[in-house]
Amino acid sequence: MYDLVIRNAVIAQPDGSTIAADLACAGGRIARLAATLDVTGKESIDAAGRLLLPGVIDPQVHFREPGNEHKEDLGSGSRAAARGGVTSFLEMPNTDPPTTSQQALDDKLARAASKCVVNYGFFIGATPQNLEEINRAAPVCGIKIFMGASTGSLLVSEPHDLERIFANGTRLIAVHAENEARVRERKAQFAGRTDVAAHSEIRDNESALQATELALALSKKYRRRLHILHLSTHEEVDLLRRDKPSWVTAEVIPNHLLLNVDDYGRQGTLVQMNPPIRTARDNAALWAGLHDGIIDFIATDHAPHTLQEKRRPYPQSPSGMPGVETSLPLMLTEMAAGHCTLAEIQRWMCYGPAQAYGIPNKGKILEDWDADLTLVDLAHARAVRNEELFTRVGWSPYAGRELVGWPDYTVVAGRVVFDHGRIRDDARGQPLRFN
Ligand code: DOR
Repeated sequence: MYDLVIRNAVIAQPDGSTIAADLACAGGRIARLAATLDVTGKESIDAAGRLLLPGVIDPQVHFREPGNEHKEDLGSGSRAAARGGVTSFLEMPNTDPPTTSQQALDDKLARAASKCVVNYGFFIGATPQNLEEINRAAPVCGIKIFMGASTGSLLVSEPHDLERIFANGTRLIAVHAENEARVRERKAQFAGRTDVAAHSEIRDNESALQATELALALSKKYRRRLHILHLSTHEEVDLLRRDKPSWVTAEVIPNHLLLNVDDYGRQGTLVQMNPPIRTARDNAALWAGLHDGIIDFIATDHAPHTLQEKRRPYPQSPSGMPGVETSLPLMLTEMAAGHCTLAEIQRWMCYGPAQAYGIPNKGKILEDWDADLTLVDLAHARAVRNEELFTRVGWSPYAGRELVGWPDYTVVAGRVVFDHGRIRDDARGQPLRFN
């Protein structure tokens, strides 16, 4: 008896082809995959007409626990993930207190074990003082450095502190690349501006480029594994196109592909984030970088703040937007419009992040791989509706957009966690392992 049998699915294969097949799960794995399976399962799904994808791995989310659970917690964030077809997430350390020690990491792991409905992993945050901890704390997917300040207190902006971190240790370093000194100077210059469009001028393309150049130079000097988070400018894409060592990866988030400064007029501070939304030219360069493999994968930078907080006048309004719940339908809608392929979606959202962070056995639908799956409906469009969202903040910058590819089911380790709008009572995720 299998734990779960999925029948008559259109199953995505890593090369982008599809097969019409049945799939059976046991022991958390995809045990069998065949045109027809004459087997029984404790639970059985008729998937006719729908596409089975590997569960999405979202490698950059902010779930706010501990410290700001009124925005999100590990339970609500993980339920939003499940609704969006995301079966694993990597969470950032800018909580309160920040995740900068083994003790803070253990606390997050214990909280996650008690309430996360999908799989979880955590970054350890760098400070100018915690070199030993960032190299020793375990399990972590990598070290996060805020080179520019954003939400929370974490910041390592001095070149000599950055150099010390790059020079000591072997772990992946993921950078939020904005030049803090330049941003501060420009904040002072733009001090009179209270329109949110100033945000993209203050934190300009050059601020991002300079920080990315510095991180790249340090990574090359020490041959240190580097990941550049949420790339946002055409200049950074050009830089990496000229010069991207094999040990460097980069990501983009849907907001930087699909939103730009024109959206300030419609949505104001709701679309304020760091690094900021930019121009149509940057959108196009980021898409091209993704298609060419200069950008390796997609994260969401899910950064929930309440509507009340977001509606404060600029610059009191906080930076960040929720996104974990909408990334897969957004990208599948782009696929349906001919802007990307099924092979790319899987590389960008499933096995790409798994490879980069050394998460074994996830991101492909093959026998013996982990049974983290999502069954999506490409045939019916449904608008993003704030009142239906699982994120605690209950809003999305994509509200009103008609999307296809919403999950009907999300499966973690061979067990259904999300089923037609509901989270199962017994749903639980597992801590991720990193090679
Ligand atoms: O806009 C952002 N919000 N960018 C970040 O880097 C942090 C995030 C947050 O945590 O709110």
